Amino acid sequence: MTVAAGRPTDPRSVASAFDLTNLDPGFLDDPYPTYRALREHAPVHRMADGSVFLSRYADCLEVYRDRRFLSDKTREFGPKYGVDTLLYRHHTTSLVFNDPPLHTRVRRLLMPAFTLRALGALQPKLEALVDRLLDRIAEMRQFDLIADLAAAVPVQVIGDLLAIPMDERGPLREWSLAILGALERRLSDEQIARGHRAVSEFTAYLDQLIADRRRDPVLDGSDVLSTLIAGDAATGELLTPEELAQNCVFLLNAGHETTTNLIGNGVAALHDHPAELVRLRADPDLINGAVEEFLRYESSNQLGNRRVGERLVLAGHTLEAGTYVHIGIGAANRDPAVLVAGAGR
Ligand code: HEM
Repeated sequence: MTVAAGRPTDPRSVASAFDLTNLDPGFLDDPYPTYRALREHAPVHRMADGSVFLSRYADCLEVYRDRRFLSDKTREFGPKYGVDTLLYRHHTTSLVFNDPPLHTRVRRLLMPAFTLRALGALQPKLEALVDRLLDRIAEMRQFDLIADLAAAVPVQVIGDLLAIPMDERGPLREWSLAILGALERRLSDEQIARGHRAVSEFTAYLDQLIADRRRDPVLDGSDVLSTLIAGDAATGELLTPEELAQNCVFLLNAGHETTTNLIGNGVAALHDHPAELVRLRADPDLINGAVEEFLRYESSNQLGNRRVGERLVLAGHTLEAGTYVHIGIGAANRDPAVLVAGAGR
């Protein structure tokens, strides 16, 4: 085995030593050699805490498609936040951490809010916002891509989605960061307290916004919050007040960091690949494919999770009920088994 500064460097040893709770500092800068070692030598890699890390595209896809892998996180969030605390209630009510039947019902009620018409209505405002931000940047001697552009866009878009008045959007980003930050594996008491406080302030704000919108709804399908409040006209089915408020909080969080990362990673990728930037500038119609490629090449969300609901076999490995599974999205997206010739590495 080759060892540098106490860490193995040959791929087989890198794969077998990989542990999400004890990451090599170099991994955060460039996880791809490690992902490659995992794909090649330990695609279903068991870590010290008994959880499993997946790095091959086909295995990750199978987990996403198979309902025996569960999204519910009550088992993790109980000890982490305390059962029935604010963060617990928020995260266990969010669509993404639920399974059918609750997931099916809440998703069905959320879907009408994401019609092409509702999203199309956001586009002119989004374009005007980006133009404004770029004009401001053009006047600066130096700028911060994340603060001055990438982080500003999603908060405003989701503010538009929920029609939150402009002058009330100030705290949204901090609330979102505090609530998302509380999903990290290791947390200080202060981080947990900040997360609880953010859920409390954000849901109190939304309760008021929802009450206003109930009194004064916009029923032409252009206002997502009014659509969510109205529920399913055909069946009379409604989100409960808690599902409504918590899932509005979740929407902000779901769309926030992911999109910020996409913009930041996309610009960085073009900077590192100037020939691609020249191609894109010459033919801006390439942008849709370019965005797909940004998402694949430097995935803004590197990890997903599921828990095994019943004993099963994945890629020849038996996984017992209860096994926690880490889905290596960033690793799967560079799996040469599915890449077209010449792309990625
Ligand atoms: C680059 C941007 C984004 C990326 C990479 C991304 C990625 C993901 C991923 C990987 C999941 C699946 C999580 C899981 O089941 O384990 C997910 C779920 C979800 N995302 Fe996003 N997302 C992005 C933007 C957004 C935006 C802008 C919104 C809405 C404003 C949004 C709303 C949702 C919702 C509602 C779910 C839950 C779906 C369900 O459980 O049925 N996402 N996202």
